[in-house]
Amino acid sequence: MRHVLLAAALLAAASVPALADGAAVFDANCAFCHQAGGVGVPGQFPRLAGRAGAMAAKPAGKAFLPKVVLNGISGRIMVDGEQILGIMPALDTLSDEDIAAVLTYITGLDHQPVKYTAAEIKAARAQPKVAPTDMAAQHAALAAKKIVP
Ligand code: HEC
Repeated sequence: MRHVLLAAALLAAASVPALADGAAVFDANCAFCHQAGGVGVPGQFPRLAGRAGAMAAKPAGKAFLPKVVLNGISGRIMVDGEQILGIMPALDTLSDEDIAAVLTYITGLDHQPVKYTAAEIKAARAQPKVAPTDMAAQHAALAAKKIVP
């Protein structure tokens, strides 16, 4: 009887799709530049801790974050009152699940997490591609509206 129960439990576990681990996706794909915990490097790599959550708290900012990962961003952007001239490549080879998990993770650093779903990332991926330099221009426009801190 015990064995039957154990087998049933294992079967149930196997049928649940593996949940992407946002911290693991971050450590493998983003921490190289944005540093562990998303603390950033002043003047070089934006701090994501605190900033990503503040952006995602507003709808236009929430919609912007998947575009950064899918398109990359390069050009002059203002971060914490300092100008950064950097290049982030598109990381669009990551799955919808992994991008949803990593964005939920970064918004939760020093902030109340904002949940992203794979369906939202799929919808963002279906949008026309944006050049990384145009992404920097969109960043500036959102900063002017105080949607980007
Ligand atoms: C090769 C280095 C590199 C990697 C890897 C990288 N980024 Fe970036 N990221 C940057 C740079 C540089 C910028 C600023 C670009 C600029 O100056 O235009 C940036 C900007 C951003 C921004 C806008 C930040 C702000 O404060 O306005 C977000 C959000 C972001 N990255 C998220 C991520 C996520 C999530 C990952 C992993 C899936 C990632 N990045 C991987 C270098 C990187």
